[in-house]
Amino acid sequence: MDKKLVVGNWKMNLLREEALELSGAIVSLLGEDYDACQVVLVPPYTVLDVVGRRISGSNIDLGAQNVFGRISGAFTGEISAPMLLDAGCNWVIIGHSERRHILGETDEQIREKLLLSISCGLKIILCVGETEVQREEAIRGSEDISARKELLFSPTKTQIENALHDLDEERISDIVIAYEPVWAIGTGKNATSSEIAEVHGYIRELLTEMFPGLGGSVKVLYGGSVKTGNIEKIMSVDEVGGVLVGGASLSADSFFRIIKSVGG
Ligand code: 13P
Repeated sequence: MDKKLVVGNWKMNLLREEALELSGAIVSLLGEDYDACQVVLVPPYTVLDVVGRRISGSNIDLGAQNVFGRISGAFTGEISAPMLLDAGCNWVIIGHSERRHILGETDEQIREKLLLSISCGLKIILCVGETEVQREEAIRGSEDISARKELLFSPTKTQIENALHDLDEERISDIVIAYEPVWAIGTGKNATSSEIAEVHGYIRELLTEMFPGLGGSVKVLYGGSVKTGNIEKIMSVDEVGGVLVGGASLSADSFFRIIKSVGG
């Protein structure tokens, strides 16, 4: 997984015709052979099949926005990892902040989803990041730089540790971490290069501590108001292994320009 990764999370948007049009336009703009970076489209469940068929034959991968932590059974309204594989997905986003903060998903549920999805053969995009209140508390909380950093990194640390503790080291190669500060999602306020570098650097340190052999090679994405106007700056941060894009992935033109900035 050494290519940069560009993931388009469509969230709860687009009906069948619109999804077909957008995925078709992305394939046409990129060309079926494009592989300078790995592109993943993450549409809503209802159009996974349609989008999967439209991108088949290209190098674009398909992902889902969520999964349930059981294989099958009486869980009305839920979708399992084998169902996602059956629908053509090879990726799944787990622990997105909208699921944590709007839908009340817990670290325990996230871990359950992650372990089961990995064992079924899906690749995971695990989302982590602090809220605006947590960032402000960290900045106000201490004059001392290392104490401030400890406070700032603490939500991300807890989320990563709770999701990945005691995981078999070799499984870590199936996981990508997406640092998405909650205050930057859908707000137009993206983190600055130095804010991104600081947290990405910390995530790398933590992963290396938890998984001394392979932790250092885990890809860490940035997400939160990624646009055509800030992608160059974001990608200039050494630690950034790619981006998780929300709103700007709903336009073929802007998503294409973001992909080209990342992969060339
Ligand atoms: P925006 O790019 O719309 O801020 O969304 C980011 C995000 O949540 C991607 O998962």
